[in-house]
Amino acid sequence: MVTGMDALPMAAPLLVLSVSVSVLREHCVSARLNQRPIIGVLAQESNNVIPFGKSYIPASYVKILESAGARVAPISTKLTEAEYTELLHSINGVLFPGGGSSVLNSRFAEISAIIYNFTLKANDKGVHFPVWAICLGFQELIVLTSGENILTRTNTINLALPLNFTKAGLHSRTFKNFPKNLLQALQIRPLTGHYHYWGVSVKNFTNNKKLNSFYRILTTNTDNQRVEYVSTVEAIKYPIYAVQWHPERSPYEWNATLNIPHFSEAVKVAWYLADFFVNEARWNFNHFSNTTEEGKALIYNYTPMFTGNISRFEQVYLID
Ligand SMILES: *[C@@H]1O[C@H](CO)[C@@H](O)[C@H](O)[C@H]1NC(C)=O
Ligand SMILES: *[C@@H]1O[C@H](CO)[C@@H](O)[C@H](O)[C@H]1NC(C)=O
Ligand SMILES: *[C@@H]1O[C@H](CO)[C@@H](O)[C@H](O)[C@H]1NC(C)=O
Ligand SMILES: *[C@@H]1O[C@H](CO)[C@@H](O)[C@H](O)[C@H]1NC(C)=O
Ligand SMILES: *[C@@H]1O[C@H](CO)[C@@H](O)[C@H](O)[C@H]1NC(C)=O
Ligand SMILES: *[C@@H]1O[C@H](CO)[C@@H](O)[C@H](O)[C@H]1NC(C)=O
Repeated sequence: MVTGMDALPMAAPLLVLSVSVSVLREHCVSARLNQRPIIGVLAQESNNVIPFGKSYIPASYVKILESAGARVAPISTKLTEAEYTELLHSINGVLFPGGGSSVLNSRFAEISAIIYNFTLKANDKGVHFPVWAICLGFQELIVLTSGENILTRTNTINLALPLNFTKAGLHSRTFKNFPKNLLQALQIRPLTGHYHYWGVSVKNFTNNKKLNSFYRILTTNTDNQRVEYVSTVEAIKYPIYAVQWHPERSPYEWNATLNIPHFSEAVKVAWYLADFFVNEARWNFNHFSNTTEEGKALIYNYTPMFTGNISRFEQVYLID
């Protein structure tokens, strides 16, 4: 009888051995990580976006995190500072979503400042606590880091675009595990959706010492009026990552008035980014005091509601 092993050419057993050594090494690293990460997602005031409830979270932000193996804890707009701090000590990272809140005067802005300060302090103490910010969240981080509003109007309310990578972008933590062909596709095909009234120009960003010393620009884009704006950053010394565009819409939002890229590659971009961020959260070991407390904090206590016929979101969670 010829076994599979006998049928292999001479060099094959060596190859199998070296592959399994690296697989085992990876397993040893991941066995030490937190494989049950919980990520907080900030709720924001409904205002004119959703005509019911005091605050909401679009379900697409929850789904993109779930797709990569995380559970979500909604972050209410109604807690005291001490309660936010307690919650942050129990979860493994935070996502700042997009939306229509003011970056200066809103609960979103106030809570973001608490979370941002907590994040810097935790990481300074050696606790890996990651933040991922999308669109409005990106703008909020820019305001928090620079300590001023250096945002500028951009003509970008409904664009699908390729990303213009900087050298740093191609070698960044954020993109380093992307498949080569996907990274190439990102540079030439309109795989990213941009829906924002404000942005930070490359010029203003690079002229600002606080931003320059805190973040690396990974990608830029140019709006319809030739203003080049920053579209992806990562903090140099902190696990803080931000995109001005909307990866979560490609797989999960369908409003046909928006130019959302639904290409298979755009969906893959969303997943690779989420996978990257959830892996960052796996390096954090915060936890609730017991499973009862954990259960009370999770998004499963809420039921998403269909809003596809009245808003740009198919489903939202009403939080407060
Ligand atoms: C965050 O930290 C900054 C700088 O230390 C401080 O000015 C600000 O008041 C803090 N904000 C909150 C909400 O803690
Ligand atoms: C830079 O920001 C200022 C506000 O601080 C704004 O007035 C100006 O238009 C911006 N410049 C560019 C090139 O975006
Ligand atoms: C890409 O970025 C470079 C460097 O910032 C800039 O010179 C170029 O105009 C950008 N191209 C586009 C299409 O935005
Ligand atoms: C879980 O933790 C909470 C808060 O620390 C405590 O009040 C509660 O008694 C604990 N429940 C169980 C079942 O241990
Ligand atoms: C939107 O859809 C929901 C659920 O099907 C329905 O109850 C509601 O009346 C619809 N609203 C409008 C404005 O069409
Ligand atoms: C799409 O989004 C707009 C708001 O951006 C909303 O008015 C509209 O009802 C949504 N749904 C459809 C099916 O167009």
